[in-house]
Amino acid sequence: MRVLVIGGTGHIGTYLTPRLVEAGHSVINLSRSQRSPYSSHPAWSKVEQLTADRTAEEQAGSFGTLILKARPDAVIDLTCYTLESARQLVEALQGKISHFLHCGTIWVHGVSSEVPITEDAKREPFGDYGIRKEAIERYLLTAARRDRFPATILHPGHLVGRGWVPLNPVGNFNPAVFVDLAKGREVAIPNLGRECVHHVHADDVAQAFVRALGNWSAAVGESFHVVSPRALTLYGYANAVASWFGAEAKLRFAPWEEWKQSVTEKEAQVTWGHIARSSNCSIYKAQRLLGYQPRYGSTEAIHESVMALIENKVIEI
Ligand SMILES: NC(=O)c1ccc[n+]([C@@H]2O[C@H](COP(=O)([O-])OP(=O)(O)OC[C@H]3O[C@@H](n4cnc5c(N)ncnc54)[C@H](OP(=O)(O)O)[C@@H]3O)[C@@H](O)[C@H]2O)c1
Repeated sequence: MRVLVIGGTGHIGTYLTPRLVEAGHSVINLSRSQRSPYSSHPAWSKVEQLTADRTAEEQAGSFGTLILKARPDAVIDLTCYTLESARQLVEALQGKISHFLHCGTIWVHGVSSEVPITEDAKREPFGDYGIRKEAIERYLLTAARRDRFPATILHPGHLVGRGWVPLNPVGNFNPAVFVDLAKGREVAIPNLGRECVHHVHADDVAQAFVRALGNWSAAVGESFHVVSPRALTLYGYANAVASWFGAEAKLRFAPWEEWKQSVTEKEAQVTWGHIARSSNCSIYKAQRLLGYQPRYGSTEAIHESVMALIENKVIEI
């Protein structure tokens, strides 16, 4: 198939674009050509580059036409954040492509009632990002069921890979937390450390997109969680990190109001976003219908990423 990836050079695209080439597809990457993938791969030499700014094209109302000119059979949209963006594409691509895959997020779930949460759970998103992504999911599923638009939605967890800082054991992106745990220094954890985070290796997200493309009849009209097999509690995560360095985690548990004073306002905001959702998602549906088999558990994925941070001297241990 000719597969056009919108935003195929970022966290997910670094793994997805080469995987699509390896699966035998002709691949077109649409991006502004401002950034390069996190790691090199020989498959990139076979990827067609379509340089365009989505925001500018959408404002001009020409984004859909631009995509159609590339004659894709399938489109994978990794950079859709508003209902209006989704609507423009659906209206332009209706009847013209055989598969449309949208990258969602597990944050379409807000508060959960039963865990691990399943795709059919009632959506109770909160926060601007989650609310917008949920509206896009609802719109695409309706377009699929009512108008036969061939949409599939994949909802990744917290993305992990070689080249960027993974979500840390206090639920934000301060890399110093890994250093403190490695050195056996005291780390304050919000509340009792029982809240969950649910990571996924970006290569497993890439795997899920390739499998969804190859399982059209099971994938169309459906959304799937794409996460590691099991979520981590902050407590378990902190202990795992310390153990990689032969240290014992020295954890101090602090109630939220006290804990948030110990970090910057931005870090507190990011941590709150993660612990308020306490994500813990099921992958049973993706396993059953798509044959999704994550290569990485949460700690394996994060371990690889933290070792890369050390290699790249982002942190020193
Ligand atoms: N980060 C997470 O932990 C997480 C978790 C769950 C779900 N998600 C979802 O993952 C998706 C994002 O994937 P990602 O993290 O792989 O993306 P990313 O790393 O932010 O990469 C963005 C890609 O889009 C391109 N791009 C950015 N702005 C553009 C524009 N105006 N026009 C054209 N291309 C543009 C970038 O290349 P250029 O800069 O060269 O244009 C790059 O290829 C989103 O749908 C998000 O909701 C993320």
